[in-house]
Amino acid sequence: MISIARPLLGDEEKEAVLEVLTSGQLAQGERVAAFERRFAELCSVEEAVAVSSGTAALHLALLAHNIGPGDEIITTPFSFAATANTILLVGAIPVFVDIEADTYNLDPALVEAAITQRTRAILPVHLYGNPCDMKWLEEIAKAHGLVLIEDACQAHAAAVDGQPVGSFGSGCFSFYPTKNMTTGEGGIVTTNDPLIAERVRLLRSHGQKERYCHLSLGFNLRMTEIQAALGLVQIEKLEKFTERRIANAMFLTESLKEVVQTPTSRPGHRHVYHQYTIRVSHERDKWTRALHEHGIGTGIHYPLAIHQQPFYQSSPDLFRIASSPGTTATKTNPGAARLPVAETAAKQVLSLPVHPALSQEDLQKVAEEVLRLCN
Ligand SMILES: Cc1ncc(COP(=O)(O)O)c(C=O)c1O
Repeated sequence: MISIARPLLGDEEKEAVLEVLTSGQLAQGERVAAFERRFAELCSVEEAVAVSSGTAALHLALLAHNIGPGDEIITTPFSFAATANTILLVGAIPVFVDIEADTYNLDPALVEAAITQRTRAILPVHLYGNPCDMKWLEEIAKAHGLVLIEDACQAHAAAVDGQPVGSFGSGCFSFYPTKNMTTGEGGIVTTNDPLIAERVRLLRSHGQKERYCHLSLGFNLRMTEIQAALGLVQIEKLEKFTERRIANAMFLTESLKEVVQTPTSRPGHRHVYHQYTIRVSHERDKWTRALHEHGIGTGIHYPLAIHQQPFYQSSPDLFRIASSPGTTATKTNPGAARLPVAETAAKQVLSLPVHPALSQEDLQKVAEEVLRLCN
């Protein structure tokens, strides 16, 4: 089976983990600090604070910016649920704005109309590793005095005109095993603001700057030394992994661009292909089944937009939907699409294997089977 994702772990990772086990220092040692310095360098930022997951990174970044009850946060409905869930966890209100049909990212052209007196932040997601239009979003945030928090959980080493994602605002990354680099579970917040870094450091460790001196409330959302040891090895491999992903994506696009909608990125944007996602306008289930029968793993990222998830459907007062130009929902027909681009994407997207462990033979097989389905 050609899997949809696979972490690439070798002898170096095994040795690094064994070293930690032998040292006896499993938590709060020098590896976490070294990993933070190395990740900050990767993102061209002053500070990086390692935490236990991408969800923790988003949660603590929101708290560090003092975002809380009553605040509105403009975000995308087309992401992993953690993006909006963390907004709810701090008591704020996700305001969903529709996406672009070609990049699947938050549509900057619709953001300004969604801003109200209560808007505090814009939280775009670099979905599938494809950077959002950060120059435009940065401009809007500046003009309205809004905080910018980037969900870069899928976008390690992605960039806009050479500027790494995670450096436009506060960046939040995940190191879950399917991500472009992994620490098992893990996450990190990147920032150029020392105050934000300091707050995240306090929040991740019960408000302690020094042991048993609690300056604020906080959590235990620390990264372990084992995770950091893995991260220190993986980060040195990231560029090779990324180049491989890009080359694999180029091969698939060359093979498939005449028959399906292949991924698009804006000029100057470095898409790092966490996912390689095509659109299948009808009978997606049939495609998925056929590809699986021929030994090709696929993924659907995501089968429902966040506001369509059962939890959100049952809690309509917790979020707001910004009105969208193509919307068909009315008071008399409330079930119709409210964020039409995201809702259509959820019905049509299909991710194909693109990870760096694929052989040329694997890639050829993926392309051939998709072409066969189109004929
Ligand atoms: C876009 C996005 N945001 C947030 C997260 C949450 O990261 P984690 O699973 O590390 O908590 C993920 C991970 O799947 C993600 O893809």
